[in-house]
Amino acid sequence: MRQLALLSVVEEDTLREEFSHAGVAPEEARLALEKRYGDLLEETLEFDRQLVSFQANKTEILHSWVKYREGFSADLVESLLARFDIHPGDRILDPFAGSGTTLLVSQLLGIDAVGIDLLAHCHLAWEAKAQVFNYDLEELRHIRQLVLEKTPPATADKFPHLRITWSAFPTQTERDLMAYTHWFETLDINAQSKILCKMILTSNLEAISYTRKGGQYLRWDQRAEKIRERNKKRLAQGEKPIQGMHKGCLPGVKEAFLEALEKIIIDAQLLQKSPPPPSMQRLVKGNTLYVLPKMEAEQFDGVITSPPYANRYDYTRTYALEEAYLGIGKDIFKLRQRQISCTVENRPKLAALAELYRSIGKYGRYEHVLDTARHNQALIEVNQALQMREARGEVNNSSILRMIEQYFTELTFVFAELYRTCKHGAQVAFVNDNVRYAGEVIPVDLLCTNLAEQVGFAPVKIYVLPQRKGNSSQQMAKYGRVALRKSVIIWQKE
Ligand SMILES: C[S@@+](CC[C@H](N)C(=O)[O-])C[C@H]1O[C@@H](n2cnc3c(N)ncnc32)[C@H](O)[C@@H]1O
Repeated sequence: MRQLALLSVVEEDTLREEFSHAGVAPEEARLALEKRYGDLLEETLEFDRQLVSFQANKTEILHSWVKYREGFSADLVESLLARFDIHPGDRILDPFAGSGTTLLVSQLLGIDAVGIDLLAHCHLAWEAKAQVFNYDLEELRHIRQLVLEKTPPATADKFPHLRITWSAFPTQTERDLMAYTHWFETLDINAQSKILCKMILTSNLEAISYTRKGGQYLRWDQRAEKIRERNKKRLAQGEKPIQGMHKGCLPGVKEAFLEALEKIIIDAQLLQKSPPPPSMQRLVKGNTLYVLPKMEAEQFDGVITSPPYANRYDYTRTYALEEAYLGIGKDIFKLRQRQISCTVENRPKLAALAELYRSIGKYGRYEHVLDTARHNQALIEVNQALQMREARGEVNNSSILRMIEQYFTELTFVFAELYRTCKHGAQVAFVNDNVRYAGEVIPVDLLCTNLAEQVGFAPVKIYVLPQRKGNSSQQMAKYGRVALRKSVIIWQKE
């Protein structure tokens, strides 16, 4: 793994002054946060964009088996574990575990870890990667040979499409996919190998399909029937056809499977030569908001995590193919609602949360946390600023207001539960991006630090990545470009 340069520089514009474009809304509370935590902001080359995103994992042994764009890199986790002085015997938590990077690095270092996530394909990814030291390599080579030499029998099984995934594959590819799926389930191979085969098929879905992940939705190839049908209608109505992209020649199921399996065999062979010290990791399938409150207090030595950002990105749409393939069906709507509120479709979760806390005899805790979020001056200011923008007709979707309020309220519950479940001395690393809506900058890093402090944590540092993020083209055209921070935030339970 890559060694990190311990070089850090503070740049003048790490601090910024204009939170509300053209001074439309009050900004005192946000300025007060900047004043309070300004000394903690440190622009550093130690955490660059590659390290804090999945990019660095793309070529990593084992971590590259599943591409999860929203993930952070194994190097980042390793660096934070070293910084937090976490050793074998300690226990780490990742309440938004995604593809399991935190758990996997912990496993490789012999550190215990618990993760929580909702997505089925993330669980499958973890189940398959976590077994790397246990795979029967002879059997994997046997599977490779079988796939090379045999054609799986056709099956009547159909891909369990959702409305938004219909026509995502060329017809023959979809038939092959289901044939291989059925074949692997019935082959005389062990259960671990079956899980691995399913994981490979799942992680190849994008590559073999007419879709590409990017932005908030799946992008579609112009050859997909869905696009062709839509264009027929558009033309009939005298409208311009949708362009759609062209992905070029798509790999077949067999070809993509063999390529992935080949790499896995090489990685597993290498890793099995030096297994790590024994340790325990567990990925809980559930909603962090409801799982954390039931967890035992003071058990974690550190937290490394990155929640969904407050940027309207919908995991259930981006990963619709994978979730559909794994049988989510109509439950996709429930899954969307269970995610932390980061899309305009998310409805409030407070009634369910109140019920949960009541059911475990901790309603007082619920009231206290809710009170903390509701009385946070900066959050009140952000909510009011967005209301003012909406009254001026500047917010392009009024549900953004609800999303922002819910997002920070829900995170306050997470912070309070992290505080409760951490041991004294434990540190938390929280990766997030600042955002801007309708000319109002929301300093997510400062606001989260403030909320975390109000539930008990001591703020330690806010590492700022040297490359900032831009804004959407509409925002840039209207309000100018504001460089938004991407931060690795550190707090401690003292
Ligand atoms: C930024 S990704 C985490 C990626 C992870 N660090 C990795 O390296 O793969 C955020 C994750 O939070 C999960 N998530 C969102 N809301 C959740 C909730 N309420 N409970 C549990 N997980 C949730 C999403 O499914 C997503 O996988």
